[in-house]
Amino acid sequence: MTLIEPHGGELVNQIIEKEDLPVHSATIELDNMALSDLELIAIGAYSPLKGFLNQADYLSVVETLRLADGTPWSIPITLPVSEQKARTLNIGDHAALVKDDITYGVIKIEEVFQPDKEKEAENVYLTTETEHPGVKKLFSRPDHYVAGEIKLIERPSRAHEEKFYLDPLQTRELFHSLGWKKVVGFQTRNPVHRAHEHIQKSALEIVDGLFLNPLVGETKSDDIPSDVRMQSYQVLLKHYYPANRVVLAVFNAAMRYAGPREAIFHALVRKNFGCTHFIVGRDHAGVGNYYGTYDSQKIFSHYDEGDLGITPLFFEHSFYCLSCKAMVSHKTCPHESDQHVILSGTKVRELLRSGEKPPETFSRPEVAETLIAGLRKTEEQVR
Ligand code: ADX
Repeated sequence: MTLIEPHGGELVNQIIEKEDLPVHSATIELDNMALSDLELIAIGAYSPLKGFLNQADYLSVVETLRLADGTPWSIPITLPVSEQKARTLNIGDHAALVKDDITYGVIKIEEVFQPDKEKEAENVYLTTETEHPGVKKLFSRPDHYVAGEIKLIERPSRAHEEKFYLDPLQTRELFHSLGWKKVVGFQTRNPVHRAHEHIQKSALEIVDGLFLNPLVGETKSDDIPSDVRMQSYQVLLKHYYPANRVVLAVFNAAMRYAGPREAIFHALVRKNFGCTHFIVGRDHAGVGNYYGTYDSQKIFSHYDEGDLGITPLFFEHSFYCLSCKAMVSHKTCPHESDQHVILSGTKVRELLRSGEKPPETFSRPEVAETLIAGLRKTEEQVR
């Protein structure tokens, strides 16, 4: 196969048969984020990581955006445990990785260390404010990190249709069988609105295929639930995209909201899935006003060309212009801002939750209808 090399050169596979589970002397309880990270490490999505970061790699990532051996990596992938738990763990032993009484895998305990979370927050999230959802999560997790190689014996249960779960090995084979040489990856934690569609299709003009890879792991509570989003993506693809140019699969990771650092992470992961290109638009993976509109693009110049091994495609903030009667950006439209249809995410969610469709210039009607119906159903279930 002539596909792009996985990050670090080799696609990691840490999945083993149940009967090969090593003898373990301890049990570590996983939270949602750690469980999703465990699976993503095991299937090679986080290649070259084979486990949770040791202290040298952790410090190197926090301080230099690289693993200790120099490989670019921007988000610390860690396994937090309490001090009480840490005291019971023996270096060199295996610990079972468990959630809700299900054993998902094991870790070979290489190290247990205490991180400087203030520094992690400052460097990774660029703030220590706990109003930031990623920082809040960081500080809410226990204070010791367990490092070591993992093995996975049990795949976490699926919240979506099985066909949307593709491992990097499968997407690579699929892209190859479709004859795609250039594949652009798209990350989102939102419904796909007209601006997203515009940048995806602009990218599609210069590559062979689009890998629509919505994040469906843990997100903050006011983001649109992933099951509702998944329905909306399918409706959109059915009506507005050529079927043979798009692969839709879930990215089952937790959202960090780390803006620039997460943009690099998102790109590297999509490279492991077989993408050659990756879209970074406005405020990628941002939240509130913590990051500048294009900071997630600027961070790519931290690395030398070719260092990341995937080509970022940067897009300006795009929107519909009533005078141009088209999707545009400040690079392509000469008109005043009163001609531009720009709605905040909060405003759109408000509209949808009250059953009102945003204008067609903002969101495809089929998408808006699907979102309204999905949100209504979710609310009824909660009541
Ligand atoms: S996130 O996962 O990056 O937080 P989001 O759904 O907000 O998800 O954005 C997905 C991608 O589309 C990101 O690369 C983001 O920068 C880009 N994007 C979102 N809205 C716009 C827009 N109006 N113009 C250009 N790019 C956008």
